[in-house]
Amino acid sequence: MASERSRVLSGIQPSAGSFHLGNYLGAVRQWVALQDTHDAFYMLADLHAITVPQAPADLRANTRLAAAQILGAGLDPERCTLFVQSHVPEHAELGWVMNCLTGFGEAARMTQFKDKSAKQGTEGTSVGLFTYPVLQVADILLYQAHQVPVGEDQRQHIELTRDLAERFNGRYGETFTVPDAYILKETAKIYDLQEPANKMSKSASSVKGLINLMDEPKVTAKKVKSAVTDTDTVVRYDPVGKPGVSNLLGIYSNLTGASIAELEQKYDGKMYGALKTDLAEVVVDFVTPFRARTQEYLDDPETLDSILAKGAEKARTVAAETLAQVYDKVGFLPAKR
Ligand code: TRP
Repeated sequence: MASERSRVLSGIQPSAGSFHLGNYLGAVRQWVALQDTHDAFYMLADLHAITVPQAPADLRANTRLAAAQILGAGLDPERCTLFVQSHVPEHAELGWVMNCLTGFGEAARMTQFKDKSAKQGTEGTSVGLFTYPVLQVADILLYQAHQVPVGEDQRQHIELTRDLAERFNGRYGETFTVPDAYILKETAKIYDLQEPANKMSKSASSVKGLINLMDEPKVTAKKVKSAVTDTDTVVRYDPVGKPGVSNLLGIYSNLTGASIAELEQKYDGKMYGALKTDLAEVVVDFVTPFRARTQEYLDDPETLDSILAKGAEKARTVAAETLAQVYDKVGFLPAKR
């Protein structure tokens, strides 16, 4: 029974367009695995996306694109709950209550906010960005999630979630499950093909180092073949001394399940070219069916939208129950029906 499994909730902002390989290996693939062992809720965080400016048509298209890619990656809406955050109004509603429970200084200490707002300047930073972590708290607590699968960079937001859950429970009585962070495997960390000191990221200075899953496979193969390697020619895993080759081995290992040791063996005495040619093929063999499945959903937005509608309905049943308890506990006068 799903309800006997521990519950996970996670979210991803739908604003990026094509996922890159780092998004897939670092998060989405692990979401897919968790749907078989957990009662999983996955959310496209469009409310979070508008904490920075978004062109409306792009946001709408990218939300469908994100959903299609998650389904293309193998998420099965029959085995988990996939929904769009703005389809469940309880997120914004609980978010407000949580804002009123959060200290100003407490929010001001969030390092992700400090980094982003330092880059954008005070006038370029929305209050929404300031309360971003508090909305994330609401996302998690609404579903009484036990675990939150996220990358290391989200740990502080999960700590805030725990603090606010405990604060609310202490002030108003047991209401929320206090969740744990479920930090996704670091082994899946993927680096830029051109600047292997940096994580693979949309915001890289050049797209040459970025494997976008929705790109033409030919383009992707070319990027792999022109990846930066290191000055000697030995295929050996050494992230500090040989970050370029090590990244290629990491990608290879992640996509095929072959261990690093096996790969070192395989390319013993061979040069980088052989590794790159083979890896290009591995990547193409992965992205080709992924793109085809994703495209099927994109070509049929009606089906896609009804999957999301069903997901929102399942999510709302849980979220509404939690919110009703919260409204009662804080002392809101019930609306007469
Ligand atoms: N802040 C998360 C990120 O950038 C996305 C997110 C929004 C999230 N709401 C969430 C993650 C709730 C986990 C749980 O990755």
